[in-house]
Amino acid sequence: MKCHLFVFFLFLAAVTSDLDSDRRALLLLRNSVRGRPLLWNTSASSPCSWHGVHCDSGRVTALRLPGAGLFGSLPLGGIGNLTQLQTLSLRFNSLSGPIPSDFSNLVLLRYLYLQGNAFSGEIPPFLFTLPSVIRINLGENKFSGRIPDNVNNATWLVTLYLEKNQLTGSIPEITITLQQFNVSSNQLNGSVPDSLSGFHQSAFDGNTLCGKPLNPCEGDAESPNSPPVSPPSGPSGKKDSDKLSAGAIAGIVIGSVAGLLLLLLIIFCLGRKKKGEENGQPRNVEAPVAAATSAAVHKESSAANVPPAKASGSGGGVVSKDLTFFVKSFGEFDLDGLLKASAEVLGKGTVGSSYKASFEHGLVVAVKRLRDVVVPEKDFRERMQVLGSMSHPNLVTLIAYYFSPDEKLLVSEYMSRGSLSALLHVNDLDGIGCTGNKGNGRAPLNWETRASIALGAARAISYLHSRDSTTSHGNIKSSNILLSNSYEAKVSDYGLAPIISSTSAPNRIDGYRAPEVTDARKISQKADVYSFGVLILELLTGKSPTHQQLTEEGVDLPRWVQSITDQQSPSQVFDPELAGHQSEGNENMIRLLKIGISCTAQYPDSRPSMAEVTRLIEEVSHSSGSPNPVSG
Ligand SMILES: *[C@@H]1O[C@H](CO)[C@@H](O)[C@H](O)[C@H]1NC(C)=O
Ligand SMILES: *[C@@H]1O[C@H](CO)[C@@H](O)[C@H](O)[C@H]1NC(C)=O
Ligand SMILES: *[C@@H]1O[C@H](CO)[C@@H](O)[C@H](O)[C@H]1NC(C)=O
Ligand SMILES: *[C@@H]1O[C@H](CO)[C@@H](O)[C@H](O)[C@H]1NC(C)=O
Ligand SMILES: *[C@@H]1O[C@H](CO)[C@@H](O)[C@H](O)[C@H]1NC(C)=O
Repeated sequence: MKCHLFVFFLFLAAVTSDLDSDRRALLLLRNSVRGRPLLWNTSASSPCSWHGVHCDSGRVTALRLPGAGLFGSLPLGGIGNLTQLQTLSLRFNSLSGPIPSDFSNLVLLRYLYLQGNAFSGEIPPFLFTLPSVIRINLGENKFSGRIPDNVNNATWLVTLYLEKNQLTGSIPEITITLQQFNVSSNQLNGSVPDSLSGFHQSAFDGNTLCGKPLNPCEGDAESPNSPPVSPPSGPSGKKDSDKLSAGAIAGIVIGSVAGLLLLLLIIFCLGRKKKGEENGQPRNVEAPVAAATSAAVHKESSAANVPPAKASGSGGGVVSKDLTFFVKSFGEFDLDGLLKASAEVLGKGTVGSSYKASFEHGLVVAVKRLRDVVVPEKDFRERMQVLGSMSHPNLVTLIAYYFSPDEKLLVSEYMSRGSLSALLHVNDLDGIGCTGNKGNGRAPLNWETRASIALGAARAISYLHSRDSTTSHGNIKSSNILLSNSYEAKVSDYGLAPIISSTSAPNRIDGYRAPEVTDARKISQKADVYSFGVLILELLTGKSPTHQQLTEEGVDLPRWVQSITDQQSPSQVFDPELAGHQSEGNENMIRLLKIGISCTAQYPDSRPSMAEVTRLIEEVSHSSGSPNPVSG
């Protein structure tokens, strides 16, 4: 007891001194910028009540002084010392000088709004290595020099506004998926990178840029409506047809032999394991993708008599009998190259099997071979255009697709950490048995990580739902939540339900399916919310909704959770791995549990909307106050 109190006082002391430091930093800022004085009551010992200052857990987390008439330059040791800062808004003042170099200390900064000032100097590259940064607005300033070429380091960035500055040089290749981008009215030259060609031309006006969406660049103006990306060179393309046809023949031969071997291997593996096959664990079966995807594709594509596909009107992709690309920023490859890349089986899901394809030059992508596609080619291509146009940091990026009567492939970014399902319930693949569902030798998933996965997935699904009122994910489950290297949630397999035969969805996913759903091809947004609720319960309990023990008892996960929480304390349902958080995190865990329970309400109308769910989870993450980049 004494010991606890002591620790508590230590903690208190630490908090006070950090807040003191925040206070000193704010006072330095106040004394350095001139203009209308900041009417802060400096006799108050805590800065948290000062105008524009917001605190969380005893530290300054937001500073908002928009249009406050400030001028002068920002001092070193001021804002840069507010090390818990998440939001900085100084827009529409008259501040000048460079962005202080100690802004690099602001590792929790998510929102940076400096537009409408007179800041000058180069845009510091460290802005893009701040690990949490989501929005950067530096528009209407006097920044000069080049746009840093490390923009891609900011993996969470969705907004980059740089309009009305004096930036020169070319726009760097940007591979992260931005939702908002504007560089108009600068002095940029060169061509617009393909990855940005989807933005409105007003985002680029007032420079000497060329390429889609602006006028074609000199030298590659072949046809008025051909996009600046060179269409994937098909096996029948002129350029290297000789080499390819030889390669294709070899591919067919190798493909058939290796394909047979691989097929045997897959059958063997599938036969050996009883469940958990969708967990995205590499099986280390190395073979060319051609083998994995059967020689049919190969014959098909080298026969060169596939009817030319029609452009589907919605734009965005290059339609051909080869791969149709949504984004080219991941690297150049064609179907032939893809089929020759070495492949590993990742797993067999409800919509088809997945492979990891590694190219010799280092690019790695995930290839999904869609089974039981029930719609005609035109509808398939239209669907793909819709899916390809979706872009969100928590959605797995679709790179390309391939359609032929015999084979439908979907190429997307590869997620190195596999699926949430694999991570939560590793696994009986090696015959360890099917009761224990904790993997050997994997790092436990802590509360912060789980909360940030829930938030990331919620944001992605909310984004899908915001597209229009009928768009749903259709197949939310932990094996479709993939994880990036830094454990960010990336939702996959979205929007495929309507084109896949409903009979191909086995009972296995019923653990996630809302009670009112009768046709797996018609999943409403509220049914998505139900599935997402089950996912939250799974994250918190560590129990798989499809776990044999549950399903054999005829109980689903929501009812199991309900039955325990009705009789005992809610903390009884939590995954024992979360036990370490009983003190601080517990309250937030219970809040998240309640969100999960409300999502799994029996009647669709009683369930919250995904936007509401996202907002609630954001609040939970906020008050968790964890150092995790995605929460807080
Ligand atoms: C900011 O932090 C630095 C390094 O910790 C310290 O030397 C400096 O005094 C701080 N500035 C203020 C105004 O407290
Ligand atoms: C400033 O803060 C002190 C200490 O908290 C308080 O006594 C005083 O009333 C405050 N002054 C104003 C103008 O709010
Ligand atoms: C930024 O990205 C580059 C290229 O991907 C990488 O080599 C570098 O380590 C990254 N830097 C940081 C600080 O993340
Ligand atoms: C862009 O302009 C700079 C001078 O400002 C020039 O050196 C460079 O060659 C130009 N680049 C292109 C692609 O036009
Ligand atoms: C880009 O900024 C300019 C200038 O503020 C504005 O007129 C234009 O509409 C913006 N375009 C986009 C796509 O944001």
